[in-house]
Amino acid sequence: MKFTAIAAISSIALSSATSAIAGPEAEVLHWWTSGGEAKSVAVLQKEFADNGGTWTDMPVAGGGGDAAMAALRARVLSGNAPTAVQLKGPAIQEWYEEGVLADISSVAEAQGWSAVLPASIAGHMKCEGSWCAAPVNVHRVDWIWANASVLEANGIDMPSTWDEFNAAAEKLQAAGIIPLAHGGQAWQDATVFEAVALGILGANGFHKAFVELDEETLTSDAMVAVFDQMRKMRGYVDPNFSGRDWNLATAMVMNGEAAFQIMGDWAKGEFMAAGKVPGEDFLCLSTPGEGFLYNVDSFAMFAVDGEDKTQGQNLLAELIVGQNFQKVFNLNKGSIPARTDVALDEFDTCAHISAADMSASSLSGSLLPSYAHGMALRGAQSGAITDVVTAHFNSDMSSAEAVAQLAKAVANSY
Ligand code: BGC
Repeated sequence: MKFTAIAAISSIALSSATSAIAGPEAEVLHWWTSGGEAKSVAVLQKEFADNGGTWTDMPVAGGGGDAAMAALRARVLSGNAPTAVQLKGPAIQEWYEEGVLADISSVAEAQGWSAVLPASIAGHMKCEGSWCAAPVNVHRVDWIWANASVLEANGIDMPSTWDEFNAAAEKLQAAGIIPLAHGGQAWQDATVFEAVALGILGANGFHKAFVELDEETLTSDAMVAVFDQMRKMRGYVDPNFSGRDWNLATAMVMNGEAAFQIMGDWAKGEFMAAGKVPGEDFLCLSTPGEGFLYNVDSFAMFAVDGEDKTQGQNLLAELIVGQNFQKVFNLNKGSIPARTDVALDEFDTCAHISAADMSASSLSGSLLPSYAHGMALRGAQSGAITDVVTAHFNSDMSSAEAVAQLAKAVANSY
């Protein structure tokens, strides 16, 4: 049992309104700072305030959340953890093992989370059988986004194989258009890499490589082919890609400077926040290959003192899994609800594709956790892989050398 004891209070935080406390409070650490992200987190802030809560915002800019996670570690080490933290995948269990998470089972049980969440998502939210995080959404990572008029003007269809992607990229390059909008940050390199890997290794190979860390798969010829394709991708980005934020790369697709971006559907949140219409201004298609790479955002509550904070945590957990929030937040965020009972009629075509593909891949065994977004592996292992991916992308390292380094880095990461 790794939870530290917190006061067990009613799942309905407001029910103790008679006490002398100031009311539910939460200091919330998150990395949602881009246009679409800020619009989305504002939905939660408003619901929290409407229910009597006082929200202290702790945004830590930096796509993918690396900077936010460094800030979290510093806060916990100094004995001053934030009350609620955007946290996901095995990192939830890693923090639980440190004994610093609060148990939110009373809210989960009162709200019947087990009945409304898919088992695969619920599994990520539990620590030794108790609920330790509240899921917000399901983001799909393996997407290609494109500027519709750029493709049309150049007689290009959305690519359904990597060869088609390469042919389209070369045609665009010859026409003076940047084929791939990309930001040279390690997590963005990893995002492109895992989409390429899913396409080339297949769902089973992806699972073996990035969930099981199977050495044979990590050193296979197919993995060499993954790095070969990454070398091609490197040739399709513009010279100023280094350090660029992901949302600025999305803006390059929006304004027609670039044709494609490979990015999770938080990119759709940017298109939508800018008033762009899917199917008209921009196009979405899953990256070539079978499968679905999921990335579930969630919030974990840290064990903190004070009934107002405990009430704030319970209120937040309750709102996050609430039906209205799951709809409105995800309409803005680009993702789909984690709950299975939220009607999708107000959602766009990309979201419908996502929901249909998620159910189909769940049935066929190709629903896979994103390694690049911290859903598949513990931090030490995913970090070891990303270091090699990024070193290869930013040098002239051969594919064979990258594969050798990958196996070594994984072996040394335990
Ligand atoms: C998160 C998204 C976020 C994206 C870019 C991902 O890891 O799951 O919610 O929008 O990073 O910051």
